[in-house]
Formats: sequence, C-alpha cells, structure tokens
Amino acid sequence: MESKRARLDRFISVKTGVSKKNVRVLLAKGQVLVDGEIARDIDLIIDEFSHVTIDGQILQACQPSYVMLHKPIGVVSATVDDKHKTVIDLLDRDDKHSLHIVGRLDLNTSGLLLLTNDGRWSKKLMSPEHKVGKLYRVQLQNPIDESYIAAFANGMYFEYEDITTLPAKLEIVDDHTALVTLMEGRYHQIKRMFGRFRNPVIGLHRISVGAITLDADLSVGASRDLTADEVLNA
Ligand code: URA
Repeated sequence: MESKRARLDRFISVKTGVSKKNVRVLLAKGQVLVDGEIARDIDLIIDEFSHVTIDGQILQACQPSYVMLHKPIGVVSATVDDKHKTVIDLLDRDDKHSLHIVGRLDLNTSGLLLLTNDGRWSKKLMSPEHKVGKLYRVQLQNPIDESYIAAFANGMYFEYEDITTLPAKLEIVDDHTALVTLMEGRYHQIKRMFGRFRNPVIGLHRISVGAITLDADLSVGASRDLTADEVLNA
C-alpha cells in the first residue's frame, strides 16, 4: 500500500491548492494546528490520521479504526460483491466503507476477520517478514497422522506461484482435527496443503491473528472495536 505520509507544507499545498511559499506564511503566523498544537515546522510529517486545521477549519480529521468481526460461512471477504453478502454489509458503523480487510478468508471459512483503515498496521500484520502467526482450526474428511506435522514444517512447493510455503506448525487435536499456524496467507493455502495428502478440508475456522484472539462470546456475524492494547500488541 502506498505511503500516506507527507511533509506538512506539501500536504497543505496539495490539499488546498495554496502555494508552498504561502503555506510557509500560514505556518509562520501560527494559523495551522496539527493534533491541537500550533505547527511551524514545514518538515513535520503528516499521516492520514493527523488532525490538521487552518484558522479553525478542519483540513483532515480521520480517526483510525480497528475492527474484529466473527465472519460467518457464506459471506465473502470483499468490500463489494454482486452475488454474496460481504463482510462490510455485516458492519453497522459510519466509517465501514473506508475499511479494508486484513487477510481475507474464503467464502466457506469462518472466524476472526480484522478490518481497518490503517494501511501501515494491516501491512505489518500480513507481511511474511513480520512473522505474525494466524491460527486455524481445521476439520478433515479423512484421518490425519504424524506425517503431516513434518510436511507442514518443511514447507510445500506451490508450482503456480513458484514458491515454497514458510514453515507452518500443525498440532493434531484428534483423528480429524488439526490446529495449523501459518506465517503467511497464500491463496487457499490450508486447503491446498491438505490437498497434498488428498485429504479435503471440510471445516476451517480462524481463531487468532498474532495476539488477537476471536472472543468466545462474539456471536457469528457480530463485530467490535479492538482495544488499544490489541492494536498495539497485535
Ligand atoms: N487457508 C484456506 O485455504 N482458506 C482460508 O480461508 C484461509 C487459509
């Protein structure tokens, strides 16, 4: 995602059409407030959530939002869709159309879905370099055995993308149930990994993303704002 950070003089100039030279005059006169403080430094870096006013007029006032949704099966992880209800349709909040999805889930996958308008936060959670674990409960059609553990840990070569999956952790819960932790989110990754064993996934549910765990009492289709702690420590 493109960075939304800009130097203060450029930011004001682009937003208002006022030349940078005249922006400097506004700054020198103390007419610009950033997050409630008089701003005089043209080098101040502004991001999409900086609150900026000129002579008391709001130039930008966008609050960051971070949402946990219990995604139901049958609802599509997209912001618009012709055929299915989308996860955005499930939200009841004014800013819902400004949110994007942090790591999609398939139509028939349920569980924790995060949404935000903060591109830097979502990038951090989703980029494989940050090694944020995504934990899934997987129901299989056929019995599983210990050989799956090494295969997931060693990674699997996906010819279509020409990549080998990062080491993934698989724990056997019972004959037909596994807990899988992925550090990335390739297309249909879990289904394709079990597909190597010709073992169809018949149920898939995301339990957590990093330190954020779906509330046990958040009903299917319901959502809530993340706490400041969840946002910081995700
Ligand atoms: N892996 C899948 O196959 N589907 C998901 O929705 C998530 C991970």
